[in-house]
Amino acid sequence: MIAVIRGTGSYIPPRVVENEELKNYIETSDTWIRERTGIERRHVVTDDTVASMAAKAGRAALENAGIQAESLELIIVSTTSPTQMIPCNACLVQKELGAVNASCFDLNAACSGFVTAYQTACAYIESGLYQKILVIGSEALSCITDWSDRGTCILFGDGAGAVVLAAEKGKKQESVCGADGSMGDALTLYSGYLSNPFGTPVQEEAVADGRKNAFVRMDGQAIFRFAVRKVPQIIEELLQKNNLQKEEIKYYILHQANTRIVEAVAKRTGQPIGKFPMNVQEYGNTSSASVPILLDELCRGGKVRTGDRLVIAGFGGGLTWAASVVTWR
Ligand code: COA
Repeated sequence: MIAVIRGTGSYIPPRVVENEELKNYIETSDTWIRERTGIERRHVVTDDTVASMAAKAGRAALENAGIQAESLELIIVSTTSPTQMIPCNACLVQKELGAVNASCFDLNAACSGFVTAYQTACAYIESGLYQKILVIGSEALSCITDWSDRGTCILFGDGAGAVVLAAEKGKKQESVCGADGSMGDALTLYSGYLSNPFGTPVQEEAVADGRKNAFVRMDGQAIFRFAVRKVPQIIEELLQKNNLQKEEIKYYILHQANTRIVEAVAKRTGQPIGKFPMNVQEYGNTSSASVPILLDELCRGGKVRTGDRLVIAGFGGGLTWAASVVTWR
């Protein structure tokens, strides 16, 4: 058996923060942000949490798939900004949706998290263990952003996206997934209170200075160079593994970090930019939610038809990367 996407859903919090509004917190301009990132605005949580957004996106995906919550056997939530650690967000979603028969866990592979969770769910279905799985990417990055750091706070936004996967007969498709921990310092987020009474605090500085380091810190240029070099390589590797030509892919759905990254990947891949849909202008970088939000927009906009082949690809902190071919049913 293989996994096919039966339905998609997403949820975007209603509060919009335009680039102009960021001038209240940092020295910046709408022009600078648009030119360097393509971002025009982002949506941020006010009342929502990672779990509440995940549940709303998950419910929309179930409705789209015509599948009852009770028939789910597994829920995976990918998040790098969990509002709480225990219970895991997948358990909170299970409770909210009434998915009483589902096992639950969260997964963190930063901005590669949704594609990694998708690959994990596919492996469960291919092994025969489960038939129906809900995979969600949900992020409240505005809550782990240092709003006085103009190098990062302009980039991020909040939201959630989800897919329902179901088992069907078909030919297995290969994926690509990897990491380079040696470059991890380029993008970090520490938990601020990692210490015990017996020795040196794990993050001395963080403990000494409360939540100082409990924000995303980033070497933007290092991440930029990594993404532009790595993503075309993994697309090439993925297509080779599946005996596919670039032209056979209808859309390359990349993690929405920055329009310049997507444009550079399109150029290096030698495919028209129209095959690389983008919505980073509206939402900013929503980390592991960006790929399923974009997938849902394409699906609901009637842009994806039965038989279409898509590439989904995530990249980011870790450093990590993951890419899969999705054949639409
Ligand atoms: N507004 C105005 N000026 C800003 C600014 C802002 N928000 N942020 C930085 N600047 C300034 C810098 O201070 C610097 O000024 P200086 O030349 O006087 O020192 C100048 O703009 C250039 O800064 P730099 O950091 O070199 O800009 P950049 O072209 O590398 O763009 C990013 C910065 C973050 C937009 C870019 O590196 C990027 O997009 N990186 C990838 C990040 C990413 O996608 N991360 C998530 C991956 S999952």
